[in-house]
Amino acid sequence: MLSSGSHKANASNVFRQDLFKGKILFCTGGRSGICYQIVETMMSHGVDAVIVGRDAKGLAESAQALEKSTGQRCLPASADVRDPKQMEQAVKQTIEKFGRIDFVICGAAGNFLAPISSLSTNAFKTVIDIDLLGTYNTIKATIAHIRKSKGSYIHISATLHYRGLPYQAHVSAAKAGVDALSSVLAVEEGPRGVRSNVIAPGPIGNTEGMSRLTPKGWKPENDIPLGRMGNTSDIANAAVFLFSPAASYITGTITVVDGGEHHIRQMS
Ligand code: HXC
Repeated sequence: MLSSGSHKANASNVFRQDLFKGKILFCTGGRSGICYQIVETMMSHGVDAVIVGRDAKGLAESAQALEKSTGQRCLPASADVRDPKQMEQAVKQTIEKFGRIDFVICGAAGNFLAPISSLSTNAFKTVIDIDLLGTYNTIKATIAHIRKSKGSYIHISATLHYRGLPYQAHVSAAKAGVDALSSVLAVEEGPRGVRSNVIAPGPIGNTEGMSRLTPKGWKPENDIPLGRMGNTSDIANAAVFLFSPAASYITGTITVVDGGEHHIRQMS
């Protein structure tokens, strides 16, 4: 896998460790990769968390590892974001265990490389259903609790759709929809004290998405203005900021965390 170098920023050097004490985080896609790191970093700053996904065994293992590394509580809730009933059930479990939800991360995503000409209708629909419909289902299942806590959403999008990236029609369409959904949520729910923002990660090392998508021989240091791949804690640090009171006047935005990569026209 591509390396992100030795750089690893630590949010604990910036934010106090009890920043989110007593707060509850609900995260889809938290079993692995970027969302796992966000959950771990948020737990290191005091939240108890719920991680949601399809792989019950993997979720249980991740929840255990998260509790061990942070000393906070983590509930694994097995559910498919495509199924509204399963999402309602995951929220029910969350409320039974923790009584509230303050922060939601919509992070569940699917991806593979395929040209439009050979992408089946079901393949296109599958990614739209996981990424976009899954985000909608997560919002619907959690919104009553987020209104109550005057909480906040972060949606994990991408930068693929800022240009026409080949073989990514399904994900590009889904993520453009996620960006739009977040803007509308921010406007509709702002008057109730609810915030909604997007984080758009660029190429992030040591993730399943990147290992599937990276062209062979690609040299990130040539194509990324900051000269390195991102790492999962770059995204987690942005999430800590956006959930924190330091971002209390920030809603309806997209925070691109990509070392400046989307300004470059094309990967070499
Ligand atoms: C073409 C494919 C395919 C592939 C699946 N399909 N993989 N088509 N190329 N490689 C098609 C299937 O043939 C089928 O269509 C349809 O998609 C549904 O496939 P299933 O396997 O039945 O669906 P499911 O089990 O729900 O799995 C969906 C999945 C998932 C999306 C393929 O397994 C997946 O994505 N896993 C990877 C998770 C991941 O990497 N997440 C991180 C995403 S990173 P037919 O017509 O045959 O029925 C990300 C950020 C991008 O999103 C930004 C990076 C820079």
